[in-house]
Amino acid sequence: MLRRLLSRKPIADLEPGDSPHSLHRALGARDLIFLAIGAVIGAGIFSSIGTAVAGEVRETGEVVRYGAGPAVVVSFVLLGVVCGLAALCYAELASMIPQAGSAYAYAYATLGELVAWIIGWDLILEYAVGNVAVAIAWAGYLDSMLSGFGIHMPGWLIHGYFDVAASSHPEVRALLETAPHVAGIPILINLPAFLIVGVVTWLLLIGVKESARANTVMVIVKLVVLALFVFVGAMHVDPAHYTPFAPNGWTGIHQGAAIVFFAYIGFDAISTAAEETKDPQRNMPIGILAGLAICTVIYVVVGAVMTGLAPWDSMRVSDPLAHALETAGLPVVQWLVAAGAVISLSAVLLVFQYGQPRILLAMARDGLLPKRMASVHPKYKTPWTLTILTGLLVGVGALVADDDATYDLTNIGTLFAFLLVCIGVMVLRVVDPSRPRPFRVPFVWVVAPLGAVACLWTMAGLPASAWERFAVWLVIGLALYFAYGWRNSVLGKKAGG
Ligand code: ALA
Repeated sequence: MLRRLLSRKPIADLEPGDSPHSLHRALGARDLIFLAIGAVIGAGIFSSIGTAVAGEVRETGEVVRYGAGPAVVVSFVLLGVVCGLAALCYAELASMIPQAGSAYAYAYATLGELVAWIIGWDLILEYAVGNVAVAIAWAGYLDSMLSGFGIHMPGWLIHGYFDVAASSHPEVRALLETAPHVAGIPILINLPAFLIVGVVTWLLLIGVKESARANTVMVIVKLVVLALFVFVGAMHVDPAHYTPFAPNGWTGIHQGAAIVFFAYIGFDAISTAAEETKDPQRNMPIGILAGLAICTVIYVVVGAVMTGLAPWDSMRVSDPLAHALETAGLPVVQWLVAAGAVISLSAVLLVFQYGQPRILLAMARDGLLPKRMASVHPKYKTPWTLTILTGLLVGVGALVADDDATYDLTNIGTLFAFLLVCIGVMVLRVVDPSRPRPFRVPFVWVVAPLGAVACLWTMAGLPASAWERFAVWLVIGLALYFAYGWRNSVLGKKAGG
């Protein structure tokens, strides 16, 4: 049984060849860099940075996490290093295993079927659950943008039930009473979040090249808006806000980093596009590393300007960049940034809705999920069944969920997958040293172990509730594996069970 659980998929088998399940190779290096930026700059920098700076305290006075204050720039630099180490490992594996499926496919070739399943299951936290949080943030910024025109949506159409139930704001909690009731149950739904997921799902159904083009436009708008924030904001910085620089010391920097890690999630998403990439051996590493470097520089600059505009402990709001501009008396730029956030978050949604079906596709092809899910659309060449399934799951989640809980759960799940990728690159160097590696991690025996430790360090900054929920998620995943994947795995059947 142990041998079966550890059975590894030969890398040659990971090449899908010309089967009817193959995807269309249409993406170049520039598309990949834009996909990475499209995925990375989103709810993390526009929303979760507020909690990273100010921390989080419950109504009862219980501290959920300490804030970094202006030292959030240190958190960003540290995270840049953490993700850079993991990105190098991703790049080596992505370039030598050019197949859809991200860390899942890499784990199957390196750490065996059980670990591969765990990672695939775990990546649902990064992609689908993460997108629930992004969709909710999108709806929040849409609401602030429309308020600029004097349009106010009813609270019960913009707050999901669990969001209201978990809120400590009296005016949000009041919705439990004031919302329309059906059979005694309050109707509390986040309708815009649900609708944007529907639009993104449709874009992805009609094909990857069209979607990449739409993404390119959104990325350009996003970069222009952040540049506006930085240039106008920098002229209004009050240096007094930088003191104290690190109000909660190292603990604040660490715990701030653990939540704002959400801002870095996504550079790995482009590795799921390997099967649709031209010359993946060259283009994947360029796309991943260049995208990550650009985003780190942007975050440090935005974080420095934001914390110079308003007191650090006033930042615990859902729209901290707009709040900082409002405090500095810049309402026009504030509105533009809200509009920019709406566009940026759409781009993030697009990349994650793109990645999730492709991971599930790889798992279905391997027999760990039902095979009929793996159908590719004859005209558009997209995995249409799984794209629609992902759209439904994320849409329904966004309709009712609480965003805070989803940030933490997404972060812990993603960091765990990164950790296993760092381990995987070392395992493969030992068990398959002679296979060509178009991209090699420099100083792998330093970089990969450091990357693993760095991921663990970041995970340690998350609250206990995130660890508990993550454990429950893993137990459910294991139960599913032994109930289905164990019996139906293609590799297992080849090996005679
Ligand atoms: N990094 C992505 C974001 O910040 C997930 O929204």
